[in-house]
Amino acid sequence: MKNRLLLISLILVLIFSSLQAQSKFELPKLNYSYADLEPFIDSQTMLIHHSKHHQAYITNLNKALEKDSIPRSIEEILKNVSKFSMVVRNNAGGHYNHTLFWSILTLDHDTKPSKVLNDVIIKQYGSIDSLKTLLNQAASKQFGSGWAWLSVSKENELFVSSTPNQDNPLMDVLENKGTPILGIDVWEHAYYLKYQNKRGDYLSAIWNVINWNEVSRRFSAVPTIEK
Ligand SMILES: [Fe+2]
Repeated sequence: MKNRLLLISLILVLIFSSLQAQSKFELPKLNYSYADLEPFIDSQTMLIHHSKHHQAYITNLNKALEKDSIPRSIEEILKNVSKFSMVVRNNAGGHYNHTLFWSILTLDHDTKPSKVLNDVIIKQYGSIDSLKTLLNQAASKQFGSGWAWLSVSKENELFVSSTPNQDNPLMDVLENKGTPILGIDVWEHAYYLKYQNKRGDYLSAIWNVINWNEVSRRFSAVPTIEK
């Protein structure tokens, strides 16, 4: 009887370990079709960006973490990214950044910031347009590939920043840390098919498909913000 219990326990441990090792990051489904963001973001770019580029970050991240038996959330990895390799840094960033990016895009052209978010934007930046200008400046000035961000600092304030490659404000390696609530992808793969070298035109167009409902939801979900 005792041996049987030991055997069952061993089998359960093996099954549990196997399940843990199998928990992998997956490509998120979009709430819209690849063509829905036309004419601002073209269908072909969306298809390649989501199904090829984002998938590649996930594939590479899962491979890099193959021998890591500890299940971790993507946020946990990013907040401790200094302890991981550059491969994990680039691909975990790539996965998180694109997941956020898809969520803050929409085919609905009439979304607006919530009252709470709107009040904070007006208080800090004067107007939504001033904030958009600052974000577009950050995105334009980012040399080479990277991202422009609107984030919430640990002091509960919004701030605009940009990061190279697939870095983001969650990462412990950055000086300017916070919780991103809006991110604009300025890698050429995000716009080159339609806009070629005209990054500015892409940055003007993208505001037509920004999902302020989701940006507002993310803002309200930041734990340090007083609602
Ligand atoms: Fe991208």
